[in-house]
Amino acid sequence: MSYDAKFRVWRGDAEGGSLQDFTVEVNEGEVVLDIIHRLQATQASDLAVRWNCKAGKCGSCSAEVNGRPRLLCMTRMSTFTTDEVVTVTPMRTFPVIRDLVTDVSFNYEKARQIPSFTPPADLKPGEYRMQQKDVERSQEFRKCIECFLCQDTCHVVRDHEDNKNAFAGPRFLMRVAELEMHPLDVADRRDMAQEDFGLGYCNITKCCTEVCPEHIKITDNALIPMKERVVDRKYDPIVWLGNKLFRR
Ligand code: SF4
Ligand code: F3S
Ligand code: FES
Repeated sequence: MSYDAKFRVWRGDAEGGSLQDFTVEVNEGEVVLDIIHRLQATQASDLAVRWNCKAGKCGSCSAEVNGRPRLLCMTRMSTFTTDEVVTVTPMRTFPVIRDLVTDVSFNYEKARQIPSFTPPADLKPGEYRMQQKDVERSQEFRKCIECFLCQDTCHVVRDHEDNKNAFAGPRFLMRVAELEMHPLDVADRRDMAQEDFGLGYCNITKCCTEVCPEHIKITDNALIPMKERVVDRKYDPIVWLGNKLFRR
């Protein structure tokens, strides 16, 4: 079945822009990215969109559809009724480069700030041993395709540009948690989670988990356990006494 859909697409650049209306053909089985490509082919050849795999695996085509952060290639047109206006806008949390393409370098900067995996100095290749449950925990977090939809949706930075310095966002707090819970990582990441990466800003709204296309339980399996570790440390009487005695 084919029909003509009403699309509203944000066009503009860093200076500003507006929504532009289109009427465009939709065929059975198509996704929003197909329709954006049809617009490029037939009505707006200079419409900018970032994409790569069209299979939900490269994390490039992140944008917002009817206000919800989504992968354009994984959003089926059958999600919408045939008379519904489909509004496509760039991710709101990051600066626009052009049309649907945003500058996501904020995320790369945060990634670079996280100290890398730190095994014990005397551990030799071949001596790395882990329990299956620890392997599985890391594997869940490693499903991340770096689409940054969780980063886009988290209100801590979405609504407060000035928090960007102090808050790494759910994707990177999840990375800190992954390393902190890794049995072979000897770096203590609890203070850095709180002080450098802003774990305390997260008030567990779980919006990040809701939009994750890989269905990673970011809040339940990474952020909450990390918060518990930070609290345990703070209220552990031995740690408290140690801090009092030995901290300058
Ligand atoms: Fe995307 Fe999920 Fe990774 Fe966040 S955790 S960047 S939503 S895949
Ligand atoms: Fe933000 Fe996710 Fe916490 S949306 S507030 S990081 S639970
Ligand atoms: Fe790769 Fe959408 S184009 S995730």
